[in-house]
Amino acid sequence: MNSSYDICFVASEMYPFSKTGGLADVIGILPLTLHNLGYKVCVITPLYGRLATSEFSPHLAYEDINVGYPWPEISADVYRASYYGLPVYFIDRGEYFDRRYYYNTHKGDYFDNCERFIFFCRAAMALMKKMGSPPKIVHSHDWHAALVNSFIHYNKRHDSFWADTSTMFTIHNLAFQGRFSVRLFWDSGLPYEAWTMNGVEYYDSFNLLKGGITHADLVTTVSPSYAREILTTEFGCGLEGILKTRSTDLTGILNGADYSVWNPANDKYLEENYSLDNPQGKIVCKKNLIEILRLPPRLMDRPILGFIGRLRSQKGIDLLLEIIPDLVDKDVGVVVLGEGGAEYEAQLLNMVELYPHHISGVVGYTEEMAHKIQAGADIFLMPSRYEPCGLTQMYSLRYGTPPIATAVGGLKDTIVPFPDEKSTGFIFENPTSSNLFRTLEDALVLFKDKEEWKKLQTRGMKADFSWNRSAEMYIKAYQSLGYQQIDDTKDPKIVSDVI
Ligand code: ADP
Ligand code: GLC
Repeated sequence: MNSSYDICFVASEMYPFSKTGGLADVIGILPLTLHNLGYKVCVITPLYGRLATSEFSPHLAYEDINVGYPWPEISADVYRASYYGLPVYFIDRGEYFDRRYYYNTHKGDYFDNCERFIFFCRAAMALMKKMGSPPKIVHSHDWHAALVNSFIHYNKRHDSFWADTSTMFTIHNLAFQGRFSVRLFWDSGLPYEAWTMNGVEYYDSFNLLKGGITHADLVTTVSPSYAREILTTEFGCGLEGILKTRSTDLTGILNGADYSVWNPANDKYLEENYSLDNPQGKIVCKKNLIEILRLPPRLMDRPILGFIGRLRSQKGIDLLLEIIPDLVDKDVGVVVLGEGGAEYEAQLLNMVELYPHHISGVVGYTEEMAHKIQAGADIFLMPSRYEPCGLTQMYSLRYGTPPIATAVGGLKDTIVPFPDEKSTGFIFENPTSSNLFRTLEDALVLFKDKEEWKKLQTRGMKADFSWNRSAEMYIKAYQSLGYQQIDDTKDPKIVSDVI
């Protein structure tokens, strides 16, 4: 089969096939948006044991593709699905990807994560060669896929197939770098010269994400503010130095929201749909949330605060847990959905036990509950210590659930803070529990003023973070690498027409 693509996305998660967080949401919509705009795009991603959806039935496209050194005997099967017309290629090798979890169990990371993702990147390289003509752009995401940049960088020297391929690497979260022992560097098949501080070496460890930064032609991250923040020691996670050397090739492109999935007007998980013109359904959703979480019905008349996210210090869950007794004193409801740190999970469940009439905690991962909380809560909490972009606050705006968030990264770039005639939510500096509480008090005062609250909700629901705008910026970034859409079956003007 000869299938050639101009732009190949390589990423470890893609909604609705796999998901642990926002990366999956982005890969589920950005390439599809480009595809719908007429670009020849495909996605390459692992075939995890249990695909999260049984739709789109992937079928075997290539059997036994050899991934090459250092495992000459090891090959991958590749499955293909059409996701609303977008080709998605799944790299299959059961021993690496057919597992209960994606990257770690409760006890820690899988011991062979480095090997798994060396394998994934090498298989992606082999697949791209197998598919026919070379891609013009390989766009990879986060540490799991970063090695393709390093491979292409070095392969160009001896393999003319890659001569005209440019690479773009998007950092969704700098804190996850994929750092491993030097021993594993030798397994990667990278040449010895890659083992330098301008390559993949980081204080004697093998740093996969660093290779993405040093070897990609262009590096992007997911909001303009985060692109600036990661050049500082506070947010650079030790890579600020190397990022500074690439600062002219580093840009921040704000993520969008997929309104075909995250829109209260047609959300399949809601008890009743609603919109700006027909807002009654939000009250029904609140009632439904209270019922399914077995909270007291009287909370219908009190504000309910919602939190959805990984229970990690990044998300500031500890700040929320600290103020729960004060929130109970204020007689507000709190609903938390998340999983992650065992200690935070235990603290949350402890709070639920102490204050069952005010707090409800769902420990686990459930797409349906995430939608129900977005719709049923009155206020959305996002007290992150850092936030590359953040998608849940964008969703909460659309669901008429104004966010309270810290002044970091994409939160700053997406929320207009109160007080302002254009405000859509509340922002506070310095992530401390007392700052969170003070800001919440401001929000609760405004919440009592039904008219003003309605205006705040309305502005948020009207805010538009459609992907077309972000996709256009990615197209410009591809063009800056020399990419021109040659086979335009569609007029490229369409890109600006839809904005
Ligand atoms: P991050 O990628 O840092 O986790 P984002 O705000 O970008 O944060 O995206 C998080 C995505 O993961 C959203 O789609 C959110 O609804 C989803 N999510 C997070 N935690 C859960 C959970 N426990 N159950 C269901 N969905 C979740
Ligand atoms: C990461 C970030 C989050 C971002 C998401 C998608 O997981 O933590 O802020 O929205 O990637 O880019």
